[in-house]
Amino acid sequence: TAAPPRELLEIAIDVARDAATTAYRMRAEGVSVAATKSTVTDVVTAADRAVERQVVEALRRRRPDDAVLGEEFGAAEHVAAGPDRVRWIVDPIDGTVNYLYGLAHCGVSLAAEVDGEVVAGVVRNAFTGEEWTATAGSGAWRDGRRLRCSTETDLGQALVATGFGYDPGRRAHQARVLAGLIADVRDIRRLGAAALDLCLTAEGRVDAYFEKGLAPWDLAAGGLIAREAGLRVAGLAGLPPGADMVVAAPPALFGPLHARLVDLDASGGP
Ligand code: IPD
Repeated sequence: TAAPPRELLEIAIDVARDAATTAYRMRAEGVSVAATKSTVTDVVTAADRAVERQVVEALRRRRPDDAVLGEEFGAAEHVAAGPDRVRWIVDPIDGTVNYLYGLAHCGVSLAAEVDGEVVAGVVRNAFTGEEWTATAGSGAWRDGRRLRCSTETDLGQALVATGFGYDPGRRAHQARVLAGLIADVRDIRRLGAAALDLCLTAEGRVDAYFEKGLAPWDLAAGGLIAREAGLRVAGLAGLPPGADMVVAAPPALFGPLHARLVDLDASGGP
């Protein structure tokens, strides 16, 4: 039998809180770019690495048989060998560029999958301490309050968040999609941290969110939180999140936003 989602969530919350504390402390001590990844602006700080190491070690102490997939180090050596078949997915600092600049929209994302399904997730803002959680089937919560997504039904009134990847070709495409969408919605927000953007969408602080090319660690915890708050979260064409555009919108808004994005994505180039 697999570990109950609630039990996995309790572990995730503890680990994410300590991780967020480390991220905050390291930011206060001063932070700089340690390396670049896909492009010169796709950066890693020493804190991304230290926080991920701390998360992996904390998870190993508590659940040594579980697998861990992390943004900075990839898959940790442990494979799911235990009876629970649990895999943890961690983004130590989602919104690394915000973190670097001291913009308070970044934090830790940690999710637990059982047999490939995300069953528990937490996202914690490293600056403000805001904490969003969800377990599959039991709703999404922030600081003890149950979350409900926006009830907006009119695309023209919708505040829509999005994000851009680092690849130059993809960015040019995203700019074209955005140029087409901007006249059809209330406005666009590019806040800079996919996991936290999904949490704000779960709360109705923005109406909807979309982004192309998200990685599993961007989407795992925030996607569950969004779904549990009532959003429809789906890829544009049923492809895996990394290859596809993810759309998260309240049920009544999903259809029109999705249809518009399908058109724009197809006409926007590669
Ligand atoms: C990035 C942020 C950004 C999103 C990118 C992500 P990172 O994650 O979530 O908002 O637009 O797609 O890669 O690199 O800061 O963990």
